[in-house]
Amino acid sequence: MRFSIAFSVLEDLRLGFKASFMPAILAILKSPLLLFRPSALKRLMFFEVWKRYGGCADQGGTEVKKGLITPYAGGVVLDLGAGLGHTARYLDLSKVTKYIALEPNTLMHEGIRKEAAPYGFTESSGTLQLLSCGAEDTETIVSEIGGQVDTLISILMLCSVPNPKKTIETLMDKVLKPGGQFLFYEHVANRSWEVRVWQYLWTPIWAMFFDGCALNRPTDVYIRNLTCWKAVPEVMAEGDRVGTWGKEGEDLDSLFFHQVGRFIKKD
Ligand SMILES: C[S@@+](CC[C@H](N)C(=O)[O-])C[C@H]1O[C@@H](n2cnc3c(N)ncnc32)[C@H](O)[C@@H]1O
Ligand SMILES: *[C@@H]1O[C@H](CO)[C@@H](O)[C@H](O)[C@H]1NC(C)=O
Ligand SMILES: *[C@@H]1O[C@H](CO)[C@@H](O)[C@H](O)[C@H]1NC(C)=O
Repeated sequence: MRFSIAFSVLEDLRLGFKASFMPAILAILKSPLLLFRPSALKRLMFFEVWKRYGGCADQGGTEVKKGLITPYAGGVVLDLGAGLGHTARYLDLSKVTKYIALEPNTLMHEGIRKEAAPYGFTESSGTLQLLSCGAEDTETIVSEIGGQVDTLISILMLCSVPNPKKTIETLMDKVLKPGGQFLFYEHVANRSWEVRVWQYLWTPIWAMFFDGCALNRPTDVYIRNLTCWKAVPEVMAEGDRVGTWGKEGEDLDSLFFHQVGRFIKKD
């Protein structure tokens, strides 16, 4: 574990602070009651951060998303924690019938509409639907959609959902169709304590600027441990992938070590 990696988070924190501090102060001056609504304040700050750096985050994941989303997403697609809707650009319109963007931070909604329209997803044509509940609120999700979905996508979102283990379990049980696919790209806890201790130490301050994002969750293990998945086939079509894998070229010591995965629910 290199010392520089332990403190690599500082630069991102500085940028997060720079992007969100002034807008937060201005918003508080305009409406002082915001001080008593810390979650609204955090969402406002994260909106400012994501407006500025969401595009960079998307670029960093482009290769992963091209291999994960474009070939596999189909039918009705639910994007959990859609942010500014960057997933839309990876969807193949010939296979996807509807893009449902779930985003509890409603400040992002206008951005999602703008981002999705050039790729053919609009509310007026019935190919785009926006949801403003949390991913943990599965009853609302199913009732608003009016059924289950063919593809569930989670990109850098399970790090901030409450009660992750239970939420993942319920989402797969109630929201994903039998035979449907779950596609994810998340940063996860490292199995070695040398790295994980830093992920624990940074999480409280990191979460302040990045809307509750925790660096220390074994999200990939929670997902793999579920019993609802079809077994990974012994022989796979060329280029086909099921299970979890790493991000190419990533430093294994990184505090933001990513895991990519595709799982298919039993029929
Ligand atoms: C790091 S951003 C990623 C956005 C998008 N998936 C992307 O990759 O560009 C995390 C998103 O999760 C959303 N989020 C936070 N808590 C959530 C929850 N409980 N349920 C669903 N989304 C949530 C945040 O508002 C934020 O937009
Ligand atoms: C954690 O860090 C170690 C090195 O400290 C590395 O070998 C390993 O691949 C990393 N990732 C996980 C998920 O454990
Ligand atoms: C995953 O499953 C294994 C084996 O059943 C168990 O030992 C482990 O505690 C589980 N991990 C988590 C994080 O749930």
